[in-house]
Amino acid sequence: MEHFTRPTRNLALELVRVTEAAALAAGRYMGRGDKIAADQAAVNAMRLVLNSVQMDGIIIIGEGEKDEAPMLYNGERLGTGEEPEVDIAIDPIDGTRPLAFGLPGAISTVALAPRGSMFNPGPIVYMHKIAVGPSARGAIDINAPVGVNLHNIARAKGVDIDDLVVVILDRPRHEQLIADVRRCGARISLIHDGDVAGALMTADPDSNIDVLMGIGGTPEGVLAACALRAAGGEMQGKLFARNEDEYKRGRDAGYDFDKVLMIEDLVSSDDVFFAATGLTGGQLLKGVTYFADGARTESLVMRGLTGTVRRIMATHSLKKLDVVSSIQY
Ligand code: FBP
Repeated sequence: MEHFTRPTRNLALELVRVTEAAALAAGRYMGRGDKIAADQAAVNAMRLVLNSVQMDGIIIIGEGEKDEAPMLYNGERLGTGEEPEVDIAIDPIDGTRPLAFGLPGAISTVALAPRGSMFNPGPIVYMHKIAVGPSARGAIDINAPVGVNLHNIARAKGVDIDDLVVVILDRPRHEQLIADVRRCGARISLIHDGDVAGALMTADPDSNIDVLMGIGGTPEGVLAACALRAAGGEMQGKLFARNEDEYKRGRDAGYDFDKVLMIEDLVSSDDVFFAATGLTGGQLLKGVTYFADGARTESLVMRGLTGTVRRIMATHSLKKLDVVSSIQY
């Protein structure tokens, strides 16, 4: 019986134009100390290009509420309005601080999945996360002690615990986690920001990162889940309340802070598309470089259905774009 399907449209190849545009526009703000202006430039570029994509999209994961930044707001409809119906997750700049201060690790990122398949975290800003690449799939349990997870990840990868590198956001809330990882003998890569890139590095064969652990943003968690689902990795999350009031409001809105969110809960379809472009250079992606009349970008493009992961180095003629594009690069 015929069980093959004909190649279909890979929306991720269109999404990469979205993150490239955002990176080219916001890259101009590197080190200029103005997070809001950088975000505004990325948001404007992203909205313009997303609206040119043939899709009927709704933003499930937008950003803005957390830091009152310029918004691509939750519930906003984007695209041409034609099929397919999709959920959209965006982070025009994951790492507004590193971009504004010229530090490594900022990326621009977007994901699409069929309508109704993305987890909607509502007002819950933070979640516990553990994420690994394909070689440690099945080895993680967010409720297990750090040592058990490290032991199981090391075993799955056929290495010793002291060979592992754990990427963790450098925050006071992670003091205990960092102490626990050190006690187990694993190595640590502390990042100042950008845990979407942190999660993605676990699935990047060229990176030395084995696992992401710690508490980070929920929007970033869903984006990372989309990417890891496409790349064949695994992720688990658990919503985190900063205080009693947030906990009560979350519970009243129907959120369960004890529930383990498996990667399938964070994005329930394999038919997921993801793109990210480097803004300031980091371990995962090169940053935007500008030269006479042009610019270069590096992006990652992923499709869940086929598991294809592409790296795209693009050269952009700013001279020509100046004539044909309404975005100012
Ligand atoms: P933004 O640049 O999008 O604000 O997020 C940066 C980031 O580092 C995320 O990657 C991470 O999930 C979150 O902030 C962590 O939050 P906080 O900085 O409040 O600890």
